[in-house]
Amino acid sequence: MTTEVLTAHHIAQRMEHVDDSPTLLIAARAQELRKQGKSIVSLSTGEPDFPTPDNIKQAAIRAINENFTKYTSAQGMPELREIVAEKFRRDNGIESASNRVLITSGGKHALGNALLALAEGGDEIIIPSPFWASYSAIAYLSEGTPVIVKTTEEDGWLLRPEQLASAVALNSRVLMLNTPVNPTSVMYSKEDLLALVPIIKEHELMVIVDELYEKLTYDGREHFSLGSVPEIAEQVVTINGLSKAYAMTGWRLGFATGPYWAIEAMGRLQSQAVSHPSSISQRAAMEALTGPQDSVEMMRQAFQRRRDLVVDLMREIPDISFTHPAGAFYIFFNVSAYIGRTLPSGKKVTVADEICEMLLDQFGIALVSGSGFGDANYIRLSFAASEADITEGVARLKKGLAALL
Ligand SMILES: Cc1ncc(COP(=O)(O)O)c(C=O)c1O
Repeated sequence: MTTEVLTAHHIAQRMEHVDDSPTLLIAARAQELRKQGKSIVSLSTGEPDFPTPDNIKQAAIRAINENFTKYTSAQGMPELREIVAEKFRRDNGIESASNRVLITSGGKHALGNALLALAEGGDEIIIPSPFWASYSAIAYLSEGTPVIVKTTEEDGWLLRPEQLASAVALNSRVLMLNTPVNPTSVMYSKEDLLALVPIIKEHELMVIVDELYEKLTYDGREHFSLGSVPEIAEQVVTINGLSKAYAMTGWRLGFATGPYWAIEAMGRLQSQAVSHPSSISQRAAMEALTGPQDSVEMMRQAFQRRRDLVVDLMREIPDISFTHPAGAFYIFFNVSAYIGRTLPSGKKVTVADEICEMLLDQFGIALVSGSGFGDANYIRLSFAASEADITEGVARLKKGLAALL
């Protein structure tokens, strides 16, 4: 009898390292406090605050009115796969083709499909840290072992060839790269990426490159795609999507390109897991990628102005440091000078999580601790928020940190 009950309630081992996203947890706590009538400024979520551009919304409405509401092919609509292949060829210099493209339910889903199709138990998955919180969880789901390689603020938060070379082992299978990087907002230059190529080639690593923030780069910086390097093109799966560039987080539309065999396996996995992304989102994606692009540039310019504002405001805060954001929309700031100080509760701070908790509960500012991104001496602030919220949020942050004695 006891055995039966235990068996019924058994959760698979692969779930052991799968936690709720720290960003979503903070958002839920902020929501709860708002319900209690507290004033909360949220600079926690990695989500553009703009509405989806109107031409894209209209395309989705047309799709519904035309009854485009049935199954599509599992890998995505052929017309959309061709449009995405053209995007990868034009914007990224990647030798893509429609049969090397998979349309997915968001960038995260594309990453999950890639890791589950490429890695298995016994494989090592090299992840430079700080990393986007979901990487390690998805790596564990694939039953591979994440190998975290620490990068440093002093070295611009970049994975260097020497570090990659010393992390590589016989069973290394996948290297995860992200540029521009969430949470540090740095970007890999062409030279930074080319320096990694000989090691990737020699050790026959598969590389999954997450380029979700490709369109959000500042001061004229050029994004470079590792998948465009012919020597290793067959070893690179490039991930992108519409969430960040087109303010389409809720539409769940992403895509991947890479070698045919990898994309084909990812497509088979997808066909058994979710069939395909929503038909309506796929029609919206066709408009997003082929319609006018001026709203993408308008949003990019707004993020750049907000970046300038937040950097100016944060420079006024004593005892923190951060790198100047080159892309994406985050400030990842070092609070190690505050670790060891005393919280208003009388307790000593040991990790940034405690500072974030205090900032939210007592000063009404929601930020995410760096611990979920691989470094508990840091806090992530998202400037994907209005200028008024940024100004008020940083003022609260400054006051909150000053309360640590
Ligand atoms: C680096 C990075 N990759 C992927 C994603 C996932 O994006 P999507 O909403 O398309 O799943 C995010 C979202 O925060 C991200 O920051």
